[in-house]
Amino acid sequence: MRTGKILLIGAICVLSHVACETRHEGALPVTPVPEAYAWGRGVFELDKNAVWRVEASGEDKEILTAYLEKRGVSVGDSGEKVELVTKDVVEGIDSEEGYVLTISRRRARVEALSGAGLFYGTQTLLQLWTACPEGIPAVTIRDEPRFAYRGIMLDVSRHFRDKDFVEKQIDALAAYKINRLHLHLTDAAGWRVEIDRYPRLTEFAAWRPQATWKEWWNGKREYCGRTDSRASGGFYTKEEMRELVDYARRHYVTIVPEIEMPSHSEEVLAAYPELSCTGEPYRHGDFCIGKEETFEFIENVLTEVMEIFPSEYIHVGGDEASKASWKTCPDCQARMKAEGLKDVDELQSYLIHRVERFLNDHGRKLMGWDEILDGGVAPNAVVMAWRGVPKGVEAVREGNPVVMNPGQYCYIDSYQDAPYSQPEAIGGYLPLEKIYGFEPVPDTLSPEEAELIIGTEANLFAEYIPTAEHMEYMLYPRAIALAEVAWSLPGNKSWESFHRRALRIVDELRKRGYNTFDLKNEIGNREEAKAPVAHLGVGKTVKYNAPAWEAYPAAGERTLTDGLRGGWNYNDGRWQAFAAGEWMDVVIDLGEERPLHSIGADFMQIYGPGVFLPERVVISVSADGEKYTPLVKIEHKVRRDDQVTFKRYEWTGSASARYVRMEADAAKEFGGVLFTDEIVIK
Ligand code: ACM
Ligand code: ZN
Repeated sequence: MRTGKILLIGAICVLSHVACETRHEGALPVTPVPEAYAWGRGVFELDKNAVWRVEASGEDKEILTAYLEKRGVSVGDSGEKVELVTKDVVEGIDSEEGYVLTISRRRARVEALSGAGLFYGTQTLLQLWTACPEGIPAVTIRDEPRFAYRGIMLDVSRHFRDKDFVEKQIDALAAYKINRLHLHLTDAAGWRVEIDRYPRLTEFAAWRPQATWKEWWNGKREYCGRTDSRASGGFYTKEEMRELVDYARRHYVTIVPEIEMPSHSEEVLAAYPELSCTGEPYRHGDFCIGKEETFEFIENVLTEVMEIFPSEYIHVGGDEASKASWKTCPDCQARMKAEGLKDVDELQSYLIHRVERFLNDHGRKLMGWDEILDGGVAPNAVVMAWRGVPKGVEAVREGNPVVMNPGQYCYIDSYQDAPYSQPEAIGGYLPLEKIYGFEPVPDTLSPEEAELIIGTEANLFAEYIPTAEHMEYMLYPRAIALAEVAWSLPGNKSWESFHRRALRIVDELRKRGYNTFDLKNEIGNREEAKAPVAHLGVGKTVKYNAPAWEAYPAAGERTLTDGLRGGWNYNDGRWQAFAAGEWMDVVIDLGEERPLHSIGADFMQIYGPGVFLPERVVISVSADGEKYTPLVKIEHKVRRDDQVTFKRYEWTGSASARYVRMEADAAKEFGGVLFTDEIVIK
């Protein structure tokens, strides 16, 4: 991680570039915002026919030349107006990815230590040229990334996306200085990369009778042969995958492949059931860790994966193992005994450690979701903290490098606007401003610990994203916000400036054929969440006759009377949960008897993650806290419903009491989690 440096080079001169600058409200129209810049004197008129000169070592010269020519720029050794030059030393630049761009009246020049730096300086120049076609204000920019790992994850398992689609996204992402594309290549819904030694992975486990994940998931969750008339799915042949890796490389992007283990492996265990604990297909998602055949399979697959992907990091998943079959499997039990493993967490950890040794022996590093911490983290592994920033802190304290991607800030499969206005998503609410506001380095870390945060990533899981257009819609512009979080220093960031730039970026992406979210018509958060609500219960004590669910504690025992109503997301710290199979029963003590006219609370339903409206709510009152008089019993017929729904359960009338009780029950049939934000008493 980079820390701040001097922020201004030279003096500021403003007169001659008023036109372009005014259009961009005085800010540099470059995203991610660079580390330091200073306006110069005059304007540089860059002719479309100007020849650019590239001076870099063999391959970089060829890559940059091809890149520019594809964009209609002529490149040749006679070029004088624009020069892209690598040097052994560039003043003020330490990072291989950094650059200095100097634009004067007469020319533009990018200097960098490597091809990557030239590529990024070129992106900055191209953005300035697009923003100021009539003349680029003279400026000097010195720029380096804050983080070395700047990633976007695409889930191509739940719905397969072809090579052309991925290349199109690399075009856009690389232009905003993203340098890692993490591909979630394997999961229950389909295996997506050809492995010669295990043909059934792509002849069978890459195809299913249902086109959408949702139909498949709600059905029998079966696969079918590639030649089946119903077959929907796909995979990358080795040749395609190599072409994709090369395409990425030519945009200074490394593809990080993810091969899930030991869980999320239903498709493998349907194709090769002998690798599961009982050997039965369609029964397991976890590999049997007791069997040596499992390791043979994993090592053979990873050997072929390493042949395709030069990435230093090989992601092995590691998340969400049920671990259930391991508890009774004789092979797993024998392994635990032989290795002195005290529980199934340690058994998972055994697998991860062993796979890490294998990868290390082949010169690679293991990357995994933060569950690889459970049962003891592998010594050199890079941890992707998805279950929250504290998981990243835990990993750092173990001495492991971390990529921060907590669900709350980095899961761009969440709704990006009011759910009622959006295509169905998995849940949550992650608008552009929230991802933009993410700070990957918590201030509890020491400077040395902070060095272990190597980067950040936004993850696009695709359960609810059946089409290519929809995937782009979820990506843009949120991926661009992540790009700025990952590249720019926090002190240089500004939401107002970014928002203005993002509106332009959305227009440009749309012109180039990307299907983006309609940022200019964003609705924003739930109206109720925008201002505190005053009512009789604010600050009053709440007694929990049934416990709230610790998984979503919100503001603890203050949640329901803190005057704060929740937004679109049950994860926003304002919604309190009551776990599936439990119920809600709370009493608010108003401190003295008060006349009452209304008592109500909002609940929500989001079908995907199993959040349901209550089937019954009873509101009652008491003078002494012992004998309660029901005021109302509200029944609601709970339905499976894809619409995200908010509903107020309320009594209105006239009563007088000191204690207010609210009880809520989920429908037995669905057994979902209940979420409520505030009991409003008037
Ligand atoms: C994950 O979202 N299961 C990594
Ligand atoms: Zn087993």
